[in-house]
Amino acid sequence: MVCFRLAPVPGSGLILLCLVLGAVSSYALELNLTDSEKATCLYAKWQMNITIRYETTDKHNKTVTISDFGAATYNGSSCGDDQNGPKIAVQFGSGFSWIVNFTKMIISAYSVDTISFSYNTNDNTTFPDAEEKGVFTVFDPVALRIPLNNIFRCSSLSTLEKSNVVQHYWDVHVQAFVQNGTVSTKELLCDKDKTLTTVKPIIPTTGPSPTTKPSPKEKPKIGSYSVVNSNGTCLLATMGLQLNITHDKVASVININPNQTEYTGSCHPQTALLSLSSTTIKYLDFVFAVKNENRFYLKEVNVSMYLFNGTVFSIANNNLSYWDAPLGSSYMCNKEQTVSVSGLFQINTFDLRVQPFNVMEGKYSTAQECSLDDDTILIPIIVGAGLSGLIIVIVIAYLIGRRKSYAGYQTL
Ligand SMILES: *[C@@H]1O[C@H](CO)[C@@H](O)[C@H](O)[C@H]1NC(C)=O
Ligand SMILES: *[C@@H]1O[C@H](CO)[C@@H](O)[C@H](O)[C@H]1NC(C)=O
Ligand SMILES: *[C@@H]1O[C@H](CO)[C@@H](O)[C@H](O)[C@H]1NC(C)=O
Ligand SMILES: *[C@@H]1O[C@H](CO)[C@@H](O)[C@H](O)[C@H]1NC(C)=O
Ligand SMILES: *[C@@H]1O[C@H](CO)[C@@H](O)[C@H](O)[C@H]1NC(C)=O
Ligand SMILES: *[C@@H]1O[C@H](CO)[C@@H](O)[C@H](O)[C@H]1NC(C)=O
Ligand SMILES: *[C@@H]1O[C@H](CO)[C@@H](O)[C@H](O)[C@H]1NC(C)=O
Ligand SMILES: *[C@@H]1O[C@H](CO)[C@@H](O)[C@H](O)[C@H]1NC(C)=O
Ligand SMILES: *[C@@H]1O[C@H](CO)[C@@H](O)[C@H](O)[C@H]1NC(C)=O
Repeated sequence: MVCFRLAPVPGSGLILLCLVLGAVSSYALELNLTDSEKATCLYAKWQMNITIRYETTDKHNKTVTISDFGAATYNGSSCGDDQNGPKIAVQFGSGFSWIVNFTKMIISAYSVDTISFSYNTNDNTTFPDAEEKGVFTVFDPVALRIPLNNIFRCSSLSTLEKSNVVQHYWDVHVQAFVQNGTVSTKELLCDKDKTLTTVKPIIPTTGPSPTTKPSPKEKPKIGSYSVVNSNGTCLLATMGLQLNITHDKVASVININPNQTEYTGSCHPQTALLSLSSTTIKYLDFVFAVKNENRFYLKEVNVSMYLFNGTVFSIANNNLSYWDAPLGSSYMCNKEQTVSVSGLFQINTFDLRVQPFNVMEGKYSTAQECSLDDDTILIPIIVGAGLSGLIIVIVIAYLIGRRKSYAGYQTL
């Protein structure tokens, strides 16, 4: 919305017209970027103002605030390609440049990388009496992680402050890597907006909130892991892994892509370790141990992950008892199984097979299957039931036959 200064007395007419328009004297910036097929690839709408402090020739500090973006251009904004991530580039005023870039992360998320802002103090209208003339650039690392196919929304005020520049943002909507040309209806709310809604709940909390509803998720890809020591392969694992992290009462389900995961491990007589990592997983450790000298089991999981909002989520539990099998065999479970590390962190496994000890010639030994897989146990029961039924029939038939023949004998 634009406020025109109509009255000769500065301020009065301005205020009046703005009230008539019912708007604040600020512009929403908006960009709907499309790819070569005219499909939306990046969408952003936001409000901002930027305050720059500079030193004058008479050694005073002056501040100037840029809040008029009416003539902003978006030259240089791009959907991104194989080499470069998407970016929003905005030019306004006399030589101001504002750029934000995005990165696609592994495991279905993208991040708002850095906001860079440049200003040119050679412009005497905006920066009168500036002591130092030239182009200055400030970089603000944002490192905000947003799930793919989600729009980030933040009505609340966010402030970035770096050297002589203070940037205020509000009413922010942004989605990069827009899928199928349609801006998502799923949104990641900033923490400040969340507290706004929790402080003033509009809908009474009956039943689970829609955000906690687990989204239907495809099965993770199966990864194969083998740890080698001086004696050759000492640990084998094949599994699809799905992490379920509950953070701020919202469960996020993340599939591990084995192609984008590194791993390492170690083998000892009583313990063995498999440790996975990726750009978002600092480490995910599986520690196996021997018990009663003849069985192994998963004893410990120790995880540390970077979360969407830049914080680190860490949890460890060294008192687990999963994947229990005799030494010299492997443990196998094809069905989905859950390793509950804590109330906030679970691992769903798919097509699992592990052997952390006594691996011979790099191959799995005979498998002990999890009870979930034991469909086979039903067959002996059915066969057994059938057999015992048959036996009962035979016995009854025999008894009846005996009685008949006895009776028959009597008549004789
Ligand atoms: C910049 O925006 C913030 C947040 O809306 C507001 O509090 C502040 O007064 C604005 N500054 C100027 C100079 O307009
Ligand atoms: C101007 O700001 C700088 C920090 O950027 C500060 O060191 C300096 O003391 C300030 N000067 C005056 C006159 O306030
Ligand atoms: C956009 O940038 C390109 C290359 O930097 C330049 O050739 C073109 O004139 C610019 N267009 C506008 C409208 O500023
Ligand atoms: C984003 O921009 C910043 C500053 O220009 C740069 O350091 C960073 O490498 C860029 N990130 C990506 C992923 O291009
Ligand atoms: C995009 O389109 C494909 C194919 O029509 C579909 O499988 C996929 O679910 C769509 N993705 C979204 C986020 O709508
Ligand atoms: C993730 O964990 C939450 C909380 O424990 C649970 O309600 C949800 O069903 C789990 N989702 C999956 C896919 O495991
Ligand atoms: C992952 O690796 C397998 C085997 O090397 C390959 O067939 C597959 O195409 C890869 N997938 C991705 C998404 O890179
Ligand atoms: C991320 O979320 C956690 C939990 O709500 C919160 O404690 C932390 O302050 C947030 N970090 C940022 C950078 O917003
Ligand atoms: C988890 O791993 C970290 C880093 O390797 C370590 O400092 C910490 O002690 C481990 N926690 C447990 C319970 O083993």
